[in-house]
Amino acid sequence: MTWIDDLAHRADAVLPDYVAAYYHSAAGDGTCDREGIADWNGFRLRPSVLRDCRTQDTATEVLGTPVAAPVLVAPMAQQVGARPEGEVLTARGAAQAGTLLGVSTNTGVRFADIAAEGAPWWYQVYVARDRSVTQLLVERAVEAGAKALILTVDTTALGREQAEIDPRNWVESHHKYRTGNLTEAEVERYGSDVDMALDLTPDTIGWLAEVSGLPVLAKGVLTARDARRCVDAGADGIVVSTHGGRRLGISVTSASALPEILAEVGSEVEVHVDSGVRGGHHAAVALALGAKAVHVGRPVMWGLAADGAAGVAAVLAQYQHELRTTLRQLGIGSIRDLSPADVVRR
Ligand SMILES: Cc1cc2nc3c(=O)[nH]c(=O)nc-3n(C[C@H](O)[C@H](O)[C@H](O)COP(=O)(O)O)c2cc1C
Repeated sequence: MTWIDDLAHRADAVLPDYVAAYYHSAAGDGTCDREGIADWNGFRLRPSVLRDCRTQDTATEVLGTPVAAPVLVAPMAQQVGARPEGEVLTARGAAQAGTLLGVSTNTGVRFADIAAEGAPWWYQVYVARDRSVTQLLVERAVEAGAKALILTVDTTALGREQAEIDPRNWVESHHKYRTGNLTEAEVERYGSDVDMALDLTPDTIGWLAEVSGLPVLAKGVLTARDARRCVDAGADGIVVSTHGGRRLGISVTSASALPEILAEVGSEVEVHVDSGVRGGHHAAVALALGAKAVHVGRPVMWGLAADGAAGVAAVLAQYQHELRTTLRQLGIGSIRDLSPADVVRR
C-alpha cells in the first residue's frame, strides 16, 4: 500500500459515503483510471552515476508564474464536500508548498476568498450554453487575479452513471455547487443556460484569450492532431489529461498520449499532464519525457478531506520530496537536466 492509498483510506473514513464515492469515481468500469496509473508505472528510469548531485533544483516557471516545483493542483469541483471552506484551504496548502492551483468553474467558493490565500491560481473554464455567463465568470476571475485560463475540452458527457453520487444530488443547492461566483439573481436569470455548451470549436480558445487577456491552456487533449488544432487556434499550453479517467472508460491514457503530443507541439507551447500521477517518481517520468508540469487531482482532494490545508500542503510537499529524491537517485541536479534519455518504456 502506498502513502496515497493510506491517505485515501483516511479521507474515506471522514467523508460521507457518497462524497467519497464521487471523488473516487471513474468512467465506465474504471479501466482508464486504473491504466492511467499503471501506464506511469510502465516507464523505467535510467540512472547516471558519478555525477555531481549535491543539490536538487526543482524551481521553474509555468506560463510565467514561478513555482517551487512543477507539481500543480488540478482543478476539481466540489471541494466544499471535503471541507466547507473548500478551495480556500486548498489555496492555503498550495501557497505553503509554493505552487499554484486550478479553480474549477464548479466551485462553491468565491474567487476573492481563494485569491486572498496568496497562491497563484488558474481559472478552469467550462463554457456555458449562454457564453455571456462564461464571459461574466471569466471577467470576475480576471479581476480577482487569475493568472491563466484552463479550458476543459473533454467534457462532452459525464462518465459516471450513478445518480446517488452526482453532486447535484448531495450539495444542499444545485446552484451553489457550481455558481459560487454568480449572484442569486444571475442564477435565476440564466437558468439551465449555465449548463455546458456542446458545440465548442477551436475558436473558443481565441475568444477566451480576447475576453481575459490571459494565456489559455486546453485541458483534456489526448491526440497529436487535437493538440495541433488547439495550438493553431492560439492555445498557450496543452494539458494532456483523461480527466482522471472520469470521462471515457476505455480512453487512451495520459502517459501513452504524452509522447506524440510533445512531438507535435512540445517545441511551441508548454505541455502539462495529469491523470494517475501518483508520486514524485511519476512526475520525474513526465518531466523527463518533456512535460513542463504535472497536475495532481485526487491525492490533493484526499489531503484536503483528511487534514485540511495542512493535508494539501503535506501531499504537495511529499511529491516535491519524492521528485528531489528521484533526481538524486538519477544523478541529476536540476529538473532542467532531465531528458528523454533518462526514461524508457518497460
Ligand atoms: C472530484 C473531482 C472533480 C473534478 N472536477 C473537475 C472540474 O470541475 N474541471 C476539470 O477540468 N477537471 C476536473 N477534474 C479532473 C481533474 O482536473 C484532473 O484532470 C484529474 O483529477 C487528474 O487525475 P488524478 O485524480 O488521477 O490525479 C476533477 C477530478 C476529480 C477527482
